[in-house]
Amino acid sequence: MTGTTPTRFRVHHFAELKARQEPITMLTCYDTLHARLFDTAGIETLLVGDSYGNTMLGYPSTIPVTLEEMVIATRAVARGARRAFIVGDLPFGSYEESEAQAVRSSIALIKAGAHAVKLEGGERQAHTIRAITAAGVSVVGHIGFTPQSEAKLGGPRVQGRGEEGATRLIDDAAAVQEAGAIAVVLEMVPAKLAAKITEILEIPTIGIGAGAGTDGQVLVWTDMAGMTEWTPSFSQQFGQIGKALTQAATDYKNAVKSGEFPAEKHSF
Ligand code: KIV
Repeated sequence: MTGTTPTRFRVHHFAELKARQEPITMLTCYDTLHARLFDTAGIETLLVGDSYGNTMLGYPSTIPVTLEEMVIATRAVARGARRAFIVGDLPFGSYEESEAQAVRSSIALIKAGAHAVKLEGGERQAHTIRAITAAGVSVVGHIGFTPQSEAKLGGPRVQGRGEEGATRLIDDAAAVQEAGAIAVVLEMVPAKLAAKITEILEIPTIGIGAGAGTDGQVLVWTDMAGMTEWTPSFSQQFGQIGKALTQAATDYKNAVKSGEFPAEKHSF
């Protein structure tokens, strides 16, 4: 998938990249414009994460995001991505009630253009992963720190610490794989444990705050691009796009106020 061939990254490429130990790249994405940009950059997988809620819609967390909002974002990303594999996040409240609800919600995201769905939870959600997979939909698991259970977990904390915590996380990872998931996101997990899980599993692990020993990495794009001043300690700003955008808007405002814009060349 490296290079310029406009081949679609497909489900089997996850296993292929893991087999040849080539790191898988994933970024969150919520609209057509950014899907085009990230696709051009060669990002292999775009996650229409429920972080759409707090990064783009102004919600205080991912909790309020609705399935309808995720469907709109997924449709937009699908319109912009020619090559990337699109993962649609099942938002809180769209899959916990029953397997039937989970399958229904997953189908809505697939109809919107996702190639797979993601849901949070290990052993406790294995039956859900199994049901969605049986309906013909690929599932990406998500264990470790799971933002939808933030209140229950007591805030954004590293998961899997201590022998008992590590065993629980390994069991979660194994349950997700056994249920049929195609990959699993490990969020805020000690690097050594994440590397151990990566070694144990046949499916790829995608880390966020889980060190360098996973099969791939995912970041929230607004963190990656430096859209805001604050970035989580496990992330990195690979640009200062927030500052650049504020500057561009300031320059535009000043040019209009001073009468420099529009100039003769901008006029008919
Ligand atoms: O919604 C999201 O951004 C996510 C990532 C943190 C993995 O689930």
